[in-house]
Amino acid sequence: MDSETVIFAAETGSFEMRKPELLERRNAKWRQYPSDVIPAFVADMDFRIAPAIQRAIQHSVEAFDYGYPMRDGGKADRAVASAFVNRMKNVCGWDVAEAQVLVLADLVQAIYASVMAFSDPGDGVIVQMPSYPPFRDAIATTGRTCVPLTMQATDRSYVFDLEALEATVDANTKIFMLCNPQNPTGRAFTRDELLEVLAFVEKHDLIVISDEIHSDLVYHGTRHIPFASLSPSAAARTVTLNSATKSFNIPGLRCAVAYFGTEELMQRFHKRIPVRLIGSVNSIGIDATVAAWTEAQPWLDEVLNHLKEMRDHVVATLRREIPGIRFQVPDATYLIWLDCSDLGIEGSAFDFFLERARIGFSPGEAFHPECEKFVRMNFATSKPILDEMLDRMITAVRSNRR
Ligand SMILES: Cc1ncc(COP(=O)(O)O)c(C=O)c1O
Repeated sequence: MDSETVIFAAETGSFEMRKPELLERRNAKWRQYPSDVIPAFVADMDFRIAPAIQRAIQHSVEAFDYGYPMRDGGKADRAVASAFVNRMKNVCGWDVAEAQVLVLADLVQAIYASVMAFSDPGDGVIVQMPSYPPFRDAIATTGRTCVPLTMQATDRSYVFDLEALEATVDANTKIFMLCNPQNPTGRAFTRDELLEVLAFVEKHDLIVISDEIHSDLVYHGTRHIPFASLSPSAAARTVTLNSATKSFNIPGLRCAVAYFGTEELMQRFHKRIPVRLIGSVNSIGIDATVAAWTEAQPWLDEVLNHLKEMRDHVVATLRREIPGIRFQVPDATYLIWLDCSDLGIEGSAFDFFLERARIGFSPGEAFHPECEKFVRMNFATSKPILDEMLDRMITAVRSNRR
């Protein structure tokens, strides 16, 4: 190993964790079910965080430093805004204006706030289906109407049909909720697909809420394209949502950004959602996010290599051992959307795997009411745990056939 490799290895640390350690954690993933269940639901990784993030947190802990925070001589949240600006420039080649970055606690909060700011009760909101459940919750609980855009499985991928969508859109449709990369299908959309969406939203004069929380978890050969980076007119109608929480495994630290493509869009948002209603983010979340975006890329590179291996392992094992499960290989995310309709399961696929294999997947029907024969699997774990999960799936499916 040359000296650079040694430093790199020391900086990334060993991120994989074994079951006894994971069971000690107090997070939802490992506390929701009894200890004989392998959890593979919530989008949390079974990994230690990057040393740079841990150090940033320890800095406050060791100094007993929990007062109202300042960073770099200014308001602490601006440190996050500045880190976001630099990261977008470095990773996506996208120029972002710092003054238009709103720092808030989480993406779901930003989704609700944006729906309320840019539409009225009764208005239509387009959402890709299947979808991350809080998208539809935000539409339903604020009295808006869901306009579904189906993600259709082809031989190799999931695609959406905007021509078909034309029939369901009307003058009351106000928002296109885009999730890119998409949860649960793992699609990272191409520039051409995004340009098609842009033409559509321009034609119907829609605001785009673009949830890009999984943007750092894109596998080789694909590159994340922020929707707002497509053109100035895309930016002018787009609220981009992102955070370091998924890719750097710090969702409990609650820190996210909403980026408004123009000052005018930001003012429109604040006319309805006063800035004080958003609240402010805690100092540990701020420091962790800044450390993640500025110092922790070597850790993320290692994690992505591991995730790709785990993805390929799941794909190869399921194809070989349980060909009855249909799926597309995700371009991004550590989630895979499994269609178990051909397994002859009675009841839901979620119940089947929980009862027969003691695995806690995410139930398909949470993402689409008609998908009870689907589950979403989280493969962000170590190889031994993943192997145990795959073995249990194979045994449960074989015993069901007899
Ligand atoms: C697409 C998507 N958006 C938002 C979130 C949650 O973000 P937050 O915890 O910041 O609300 C998740 C979590 O898995 C997600 O997959």
